[in-house]
Amino acid sequence: MDELRLLLVFVLLYSTPAASRSFNGFSYQDIFNGNGNGEIHFNGVKLQVETQSLSVFAVGGSNVTLSCHFWYDPPLDSPRRVRVKWAWLPVSGDRESDVLVTIGHRHRSFGDFKDRVYLQQNFPGDISLVITNVTLNDSGQYRCEVIDGLEDESAAVDLELRGVVFPYQPHNGRYHLSFQAAQRTCEEQDAAVATFEQLYAAWQEGLDWCNAGWLADGTVQYPITQPRLPCGGLGLAPGLRSYGTRHKHIHKFDVFCFSSSITGHVYYLQHPEKLNFTEAVQACLEDGSQIAKVGQMYAAWRFLGLDRCDAGWLADGSVRYPITNPRQNCGPQEPGVRSFGFPSPHHKHGVYCYSSR
Ligand SMILES: *[C@@H]1O[C@H](CO)[C@@H](O)[C@H](O)[C@H]1NC(C)=O
Ligand SMILES: *[C@@H]1O[C@H](CO)[C@@H](O)[C@H](O)[C@H]1NC(C)=O
Ligand SMILES: *[C@@H]1O[C@H](CO)[C@@H](O)[C@H](O)[C@H]1NC(C)=O
Ligand SMILES: *[C@@H]1O[C@H](CO)[C@@H](O)[C@H](O)[C@H]1NC(C)=O
Repeated sequence: MDELRLLLVFVLLYSTPAASRSFNGFSYQDIFNGNGNGEIHFNGVKLQVETQSLSVFAVGGSNVTLSCHFWYDPPLDSPRRVRVKWAWLPVSGDRESDVLVTIGHRHRSFGDFKDRVYLQQNFPGDISLVITNVTLNDSGQYRCEVIDGLEDESAAVDLELRGVVFPYQPHNGRYHLSFQAAQRTCEEQDAAVATFEQLYAAWQEGLDWCNAGWLADGTVQYPITQPRLPCGGLGLAPGLRSYGTRHKHIHKFDVFCFSSSITGHVYYLQHPEKLNFTEAVQACLEDGSQIAKVGQMYAAWRFLGLDRCDAGWLADGSVRYPITNPRQNCGPQEPGVRSFGFPSPHHKHGVYCYSSR
C-alpha cells in the first residue's frame, strides 16, 4: 500500500464520522468501497439503471417480481458497494413511500411491505424486487434507485393487479353510499374500489351497467356498451359516462369494486336441506370454512371458472350464482354472476362457502 493510500485510510478512519444519514428511522453510513476507488464520476464511469418492462401484471395472493438491474458503463473490474432503494407511489396516492432499502447485506422493508419483499439477486447487478403475497393495495408505480457515492440513477415500473370489476349496490338499495362507505363496502366483500383504468378495461370486455358508482379517484361513472335512453341517451357513443368528481361526504352513489384474489376456493355447500341466512352462515362454519364474500365469488368465477346453477347465500345477505358456460334455465346468454338481490333472511336457499386452504 503506498503512502497516499495509507493516509487516505487514516483520514477516513479518524476524521469526523463519515456521512451518516437517517432515513425513515433507518440510519446507515456512507462508506468508501474496499477497493478505495472513491467517487466513480471522477473516472467518467456512468451508472445505468433499467427496468425490463413498463408494467407487470399480477393477481392477488401471488408472488410477483419487478425486474430491475444496474451496471456501469464502461464496466468496472471490481464490484462496488451501492445503496439500493425501492420506493412506491400508490395508485390513489400523491406521495412516494419506501418499500425496501439495502446496503451491502443489510436491508430493511417498510410499512405493509415489511417482511414481504426482498431483492432477487440472481446475477451481479440484479436488484429485482420480489413481493410475496401481493394484495390489491400493492398496485401502483415502483421505482428502483441505485446510489453510488454522488451518482444516483433510477427507473420505474408499474404493478397492475389483474382482477374483475363488479358493480355493487347495498341491501338498502340504489345510491346509498358516500365515498367512505363505498370503500368500506368493497373491503367487506374482499375487494377494493375500482380505478378508472380497471373500469375502462371491464367496459372494453363488455361490462354494461346503468347505475353510477364511485371510482378510486373520487369520480362517479358508469360503463355503457349498448346506448339507451335511461343511460345517457341514444345519441351518446358507447363508453364510460362520467358525473365527474363528486363530494365524498355529501353525494351518494353505488360503487364499482375490484376483486383479485386467487387464494383459497369458493364452493357450493352440499347440504341435505335449503337454509335460511343464519343457518347458511353456521353451515359453512361447521364445514370448516366461512360463507363466501361477493368479491371471492366474482374472483372464483372469473379466474377459476366457477360454474354452478344453484342460487346460494353470500356473506352480505345476497343470493347469487356463478355461470361461466351459459345454458338454459341458468340466466342470460352471457357468462356472469347472477344475482337475486337481497331476499328476506328467512328464505331458504343453498350457500357458497370460502375456504382459504
Ligand atoms: C411466494 O414466495 C414465498 C417465499 O419465497 C413462498 O413461500 C410461497 O410459497 C410463494 N407463493 C406462491 C403462491 O408462489
Ligand atoms: C396473505 O395476505 C392475506 C391478506 O393480507 C393474509 O390473510 C394471508 O394470511 C397472507 N398469506 C401469507 C402466506 O402470508
Ligand atoms: C388496504 O388498505 C386499506 C386502507 O389503507 C386497509 O384498510 C386494508 O386493510 C388494506 N387491505 C389489505 C389486504 O392489506
Ligand atoms: C333460521 O332458522 C333457525 C331454526 O333452524 C331459527 O332459529 C332462526 O331464527 C332462523 N333465522 C332466520 C333469519 O330466519
